[in-house]
Order: sequence, then structure tokens, then C-alpha cells
Amino acid sequence: EQSIREFIGETIRTIPDFPKEGIQFKDITTLLQDKRALELTSYMLAQPYRHKNIDYVVGLESRGFLFGTNLAQDLNAGFVPVRKPGKLPAKTLSESYELEYGEDHMEIHEDALFEGAKVIIHDDLIATGGTASAASKLVQRLGGEVIGYSFIIELSFLNGREHLIPNTPVESILIE
Ligand code: PRP
Ligand code: MG
Repeated sequence: EQSIREFIGETIRTIPDFPKEGIQFKDITTLLQDKRALELTSYMLAQPYRHKNIDYVVGLESRGFLFGTNLAQDLNAGFVPVRKPGKLPAKTLSESYELEYGEDHMEIHEDALFEGAKVIIHDDLIATGGTASAASKLVQRLGGEVIGYSFIIELSFLNGREHLIPNTPVESILIE
């Protein structure tokens, strides 16, 4: 498993100063291009949550959509998108989260999941944890139970985990 993690890590490209100065952007397009890395990433994401009777994978727009539906299929679960404002057409709930400057919102359809549903929250990357935290609140407001989190990359120096639901598993393929 460690060698799989290392291999996946080598396919991710770091772009300095994108989208602005001082940000080291983790570019997973190079991972997606590589058929072996693509398959292994899907495998590694599913591994911790197999046989856990997950009802839904909640994927966070937009890069959380890339593996989210595939992860849902691997877990025999449904897929629910959490989207940026104004994108979902039916009735929505909204949660704000803080950005470096200002704030943003994420939305979920009001009828996206049933009360008591067992949910995994998936995204490509956790940085400050603001996005995943907003998604957690949306799931909880609908009566869903967050069973765990699933990320490809965790930027641990930003302490994003601290903003997630306490005592809930956080599974990251790569921790930097
Ligand atoms: C990036 C990344 C995560 C989020 C992590 O998304 O894909 O969703 O930031 O940051 P946080 O933990 O500090 O909230 P971004 O907002 O750049 O949008 P995208 O996925 O649509 O590219
Ligand atoms: Mg994102």
C-alpha cells in the first residue's frame, strides 16, 4: 500500500504560484491521464469504506466530482453533488465558509438524501477544511450521518481536519 501511495504521489504535479503567488497548486490532471494511477486512486479511495453499507457519497464541486461518482459505484452507494451557488435547480440548503478573503457558499438539494443516511464526504483535496466543513453541515442539516471523509491529498500543515466533525475517520491517500 505504501508503494501505491508513492506511485500516486509521483503522478501529481505541483504548480508554483497558481492561481496566485505563494500557492503550491496540486494538479491532479497528470494523475487522471495515467491509466494505472487512475485505477489505483479509485481502489485506494474505496478501500477504507468497503462493506460499510454507505448510502451516499457526497462529492464537492468541482474536483470532488472526478472520483466521486466512481467511488459511489465502488461502494454500492448513490452520488450526491454539493455545488457552488446557483447551480442546483431544485430547492437547496446553503452553508457559507470562509476564504482567505471573504466567504463563499456551497449548496445541496433539500431532497438529496434520506434521514439517517450513511454518508461519505469526498473531495480531491483538503486544505483549510472550509469546503468539507460546509458540506458536513449540509449533510447533517438533512439528517444524514457522516461516516467518514475521503480525500486524495491532505495538506496537514493547514490543520483542515480540525474543522471536520470530531471522531469521524479522515482517509487521505497522501498527507503532506
Ligand atoms: C479546492 C479543492 C477543494 C478545496 C479545498 O477547490 O478542490 O475543494 O479547494 O480547500 P479548503 O479545504 O481550504 O476548503 P476549489 O475551490 O479551488 O474549486 P474546484 O474544485 O472547483 O477547482
Ligand atoms: Mg474543489
